[in-house]
Amino acid sequence: MPGDKSLSHRAVLFSAMARGVSHVSGVLDSADVRSTIEAVRALGARVDLSVSPDGSLAGAIEGWGASGPVAPASPIDCGNSGTTARLLMGMLAGWPIVVTLTGDSSLSLRPMRRVTDPLSEMGANFLTTDSGTLPVTVQGSATLRPLSYHSPVASAQVKTALLLAGIRAIGGVRVVEPAPSRDHTERLLPAYGIPVTVDAQEFSASLCGPVVPMATDVDVPRDPSSAAFLVSAAVLIPDSEVVLPGVSLNQTRVGFLHVLERMGAQIEVVDPNVEGNEPVATIVAHHTKQLRATLVTEGEVPSLVDEVPVLALVAALAQGTTRFEGVGELRVKESDRLAAVADGLTALGVTVRTGGDWLEVDGPSELGAQTLDSLHDHRLAMVWALAGLVGVGRVKVSDYEAVDVSYPRFADDLAALADGAQ
Ligand code: S3P
Repeated sequence: MPGDKSLSHRAVLFSAMARGVSHVSGVLDSADVRSTIEAVRALGARVDLSVSPDGSLAGAIEGWGASGPVAPASPIDCGNSGTTARLLMGMLAGWPIVVTLTGDSSLSLRPMRRVTDPLSEMGANFLTTDSGTLPVTVQGSATLRPLSYHSPVASAQVKTALLLAGIRAIGGVRVVEPAPSRDHTERLLPAYGIPVTVDAQEFSASLCGPVVPMATDVDVPRDPSSAAFLVSAAVLIPDSEVVLPGVSLNQTRVGFLHVLERMGAQIEVVDPNVEGNEPVATIVAHHTKQLRATLVTEGEVPSLVDEVPVLALVAALAQGTTRFEGVGELRVKESDRLAAVADGLTALGVTVRTGGDWLEVDGPSELGAQTLDSLHDHRLAMVWALAGLVGVGRVKVSDYEAVDVSYPRFADDLAALADGAQ
């Protein structure tokens, strides 16, 4: 299983910001994380990572600490990675340098004002396109003001960008969310010597600045969002049993397990442990003959925001109508995932209805043959590949290479599972 993408970005970024040499391991080797690694290199961090026998990256990162990042010679290309772009904006906001961030055609369509607006309130300057998208030029300020911000969206990228700016702000930052988003930043920053105050009742996180992060060691657990595809494959394909050790069981990430359990899927979580400040466990998933539909409510969406496409595929094979509520954020991911999932499932022969922020999938359906485009969205590439495995027809995925963003070895791992590999 690949390392967790969210934590890999954070381990690289926070180590780059820290004083001293951090040692990281289990880091995901994928296109998105490489965007972050190249970005911090361009900003002056020394990154010396190599590929471990399990395919993850490990090694040393020497950060810039109190001297701050240097202005790069050319724009920083964030590739397909929203996390890279948005977290860099927060990280750069408190330093008096000018940096331009660019991205690929998908990232260049994604909204950035959700980050640039509150960071501007703190005193940083941003030049964006008229629609608030990349390319964005950040002109940071050495004297950021403190901020108490009520975010209109539950977004860990927004929350993290503001907390990273808060590290440089005189007085710090407080972010309140409408629902709890993933909390890896709050769990990891204390390891770098930065305490974060979390209020679980009001869904807020705050920290006091200015403070210099100190180097530490981080071992990244396996990615639950990638695990969701193998768990779903096991549940859907007759005679399967898949055992996935060392997966992050962070409660802000594993909503998909709760949904699958409600659908009747036979899944066990064993060997619970804590690595760093993150809970991990082994997930054991078995083929399940009779899956039933469920209701996925708005409140649980942040904990499964990246898993809606694969859950929609499972829903297409379950008895009844599964409804996903409050999933409007999917429209501004690597593609308009709500439209893409509805269109793709419809093309496969599934009855689907969708509105601005909801999706209904009728099941069980027999999935037919089809050619589907990933739209350069890694999670769509994987979900359509899985549709081919669980349906009766052959599915051809064009631009399948998009999987490189989060799970480059996805096809190899599926093939190994089909061969009964341990
Ligand atoms: C991420 C947060 C989520 C998620 C993305 C990674 C992160 O986005 O969809 O894949 O690492 O913080 P939002 O914070 O915008 O919901």
